Amino acid sequence: MSFFDLFTRLFRASNYRNAGSDILASSVIDHTRAEEWTVAYVDGAGRRRRTDVPYLLPKDDQEIQRLDYQHYILRQVLQGNISAPFQLEAQQGYVLDVGCGSGRWASEVATSYPHLQVIGLDLEEANIKASSRPLNYQFTQGNVLEKLPFPDESMTYVHQRLLVAAIPAAKWPWVVQELARVTRRGGWVELVEMGSGFVREGAATQQFMTWFRQLSQMRGIDLEVMGRLDVLLQQAGLHHVQKKTLNLPVGTWGGRMGELLARDMLSGWPSLQPLCQQYLNIPKETFDAVIASLEAEWNSHQTEYEVYVVYGQK
Ligand SMILES: C[S@@+](CC[C@H](N)C(=O)[O-])C[C@H]1O[C@@H](n2cnc3c(N)ncnc32)[C@H](O)[C@@H]1O
Repeated sequence: MSFFDLFTRLFRASNYRNAGSDILASSVIDHTRAEEWTVAYVDGAGRRRRTDVPYLLPKDDQEIQRLDYQHYILRQVLQGNISAPFQLEAQQGYVLDVGCGSGRWASEVATSYPHLQVIGLDLEEANIKASSRPLNYQFTQGNVLEKLPFPDESMTYVHQRLLVAAIPAAKWPWVVQELARVTRRGGWVELVEMGSGFVREGAATQQFMTWFRQLSQMRGIDLEVMGRLDVLLQQAGLHHVQKKTLNLPVGTWGGRMGELLARDMLSGWPSLQPLCQQYLNIPKETFDAVIASLEAEWNSHQTEYEVYVVYGQK
């Protein structure tokens, strides 16, 4: 069974609303559009990548499907879409999701809170039928490394998840200040990140993470910042800052969630192969051999993956 067959079955089994079904089947890129080439290229493995931002992961329909799948895992693990101690039912105004990816999180929040307006901001909109979006959801094109296109204090709640491979270390304090700037007094900023910390990592995991760190450093990205996001929220002037670190099992040893997380990582990590070859001179066979040994290693070491949830109030 392929990964996406497994994905489809798991979503059907869990009654996950609309998951994956509204993603347009075509992943064909229109190479005739001149502007496409100014911001993106297709790598040796056929994955589309942006050239105008430090972001390390592909930007194509295949990645959007993985993000949807990963959203399902995170929603289960975090027991919902929002962790901050905040009753959105009692609020008015706007919710912002920065780096919204597939827009799944933002669409679900818009459906759950129809009295709020939810904005998803990303470099580009996911290839998803507009008719499947709630009416109180809207997409805004934007770059989190530039000033956000919203006035001061215009948002009730600002959410940003999994920008680990997108924001250079030197930019993180400024980005968090921007999130705080657009949040109204009394509103909350919430950040969810993973991708830096493992517990009981074996040799293959260590090797992959070494390559990931090296590629990241080339773009000014420092994975260790993910463990210090609470400090950044405090420095941005937020109050009641809380940080939770969850250790998630990776692999079948960790039951269903462990298996799902392993599938997610085994779907996402190979996308770095062309970059490892191009920038680190890692032969494809070497990279593939490391990827191939991950799953057994996660089970034998009982590896865990760290997820950081931090939030603070303005
Ligand atoms: C790993 S995905 C996470 C998506 C979503 N937050 C989620 O949790 O499913 C990272 C997202 O950040 C977006 N991104 C990367 N660099 C960005 C930038 N400079 N400005 C805005 N979005 C960016 C990517 O396009 C991608 O959709």
